Amino acid sequence: MAEFKVTPWEVEGKIDYDKLVKQFGVSLIDESILKKFKKITGEVHFMLRRKIFFAHRDLDFILNEYEKGNKFYLYTGRGPSENLHLGHLLPLTFTKYLQEKFKVKCYIQLTDDEKFLFKRNLTIEQANKIAYENALDIIALGFNKKLTKIIVDTDYAKTLYKQAIRVAKHITFSTAKAVFGFENSSNIGQIFYTSMQAVPAFLESVFQGKNVPCLIPHGIDQDPHFRIARDVLPKLGYLKPASIQSKLLPGLLEGGKMSASIPNSAIFTTDTPKEIEKKIKNAFSGGRETIEAHRKYGGNPDIDIPFQYLKYFFEPDDKKLKKIEEDYRSGKLLTGELKQIVIEKITKFILEHQEKREKAKDVIEEFILRD
Ligand code: TYM
Repeated sequence: MAEFKVTPWEVEGKIDYDKLVKQFGVSLIDESILKKFKKITGEVHFMLRRKIFFAHRDLDFILNEYEKGNKFYLYTGRGPSENLHLGHLLPLTFTKYLQEKFKVKCYIQLTDDEKFLFKRNLTIEQANKIAYENALDIIALGFNKKLTKIIVDTDYAKTLYKQAIRVAKHITFSTAKAVFGFENSSNIGQIFYTSMQAVPAFLESVFQGKNVPCLIPHGIDQDPHFRIARDVLPKLGYLKPASIQSKLLPGLLEGGKMSASIPNSAIFTTDTPKEIEKKIKNAFSGGRETIEAHRKYGGNPDIDIPFQYLKYFFEPDDKKLKKIEEDYRSGKLLTGELKQIVIEKITKFILEHQEKREKAKDVIEEFILRD
């Protein structure tokens, strides 16, 4: 059986999500939760329907409280070491959707401290600058100006640090080692870092002086941080944060790994239409070697990366997606044709995104939380 590894800093191999669910101890999102979404918001988002957001911790609690009139707040984040790629947009886009549907506050943490501590060649000045670049992309996704606050760790340290040390006091080195796999050679900033990521999970409760439920949408790779936060926060008198986790959008090349050091493995929000076209044309395909073979035997959308991009993000309409899937499987739709559909959709999305990103420059300061 193929080996895989998922940590907040490393994703390797073909992920077996059933195994990961057991390993991490999260729960699968079941029909009763989908029904609850439908009851409250009148619909079920395609990422929920398709099990892209597939797992959770205490999501039932969050929805039940909401129905009783006890609103939660949202918290998500990003480690600024490079421009955002489409994978990063997945949890962020879904968070924005939840904010719109539930009309709730949202904190977005940009962890320049984390990226400085974990990336050998990144200075703190660079990480901080990238945080503000990433903030533009995040604002461009359409977060509500009145309800959303972006936190840049080193610039909001006066408030964060006071809370982070309260968390840190309850985490031993041996716990951090067991959860994250640190070694004696790991720098001590890395060992402390998870306490910074825990803070926005109770910050609203600190501000309001009473417990406010918190829901954290994120990619499944970040779960270890919140496992620790869920252990510690009750010791400080706060609720355990709830979470909703997405699968990871695969990289474009064979093996599905996405990496900033392999530019062709991911599409970035700053890519040009030419780059997008080249990357998708290069992407790993489930098509046959020749047109004749493809027409005769059909392609395999289950392993086809461009098809996965439609499923995860770019074709929200189930009927249209199904037609593409069937046509590809039967051989009616060729690999080149499928790729062309994907190129057009992504290019349109990115060009519109880049316009919104420009406009975000005028309002960025209104989103940044300062102490
Ligand atoms: P980062 O910058 O690695 O990732 C940002 C968010 O994107 C998710 N993600 C993906 N989702 C789908 N497909 C992918 N291929 C993919 N790659 C990354 C991550 O799971 C994450 O949700 N330490 C964090 C920053 C952070 C944070 C948070 C994230 C601070 N507080 C609260 C989530 C929630 C980080 O470096 O994320």
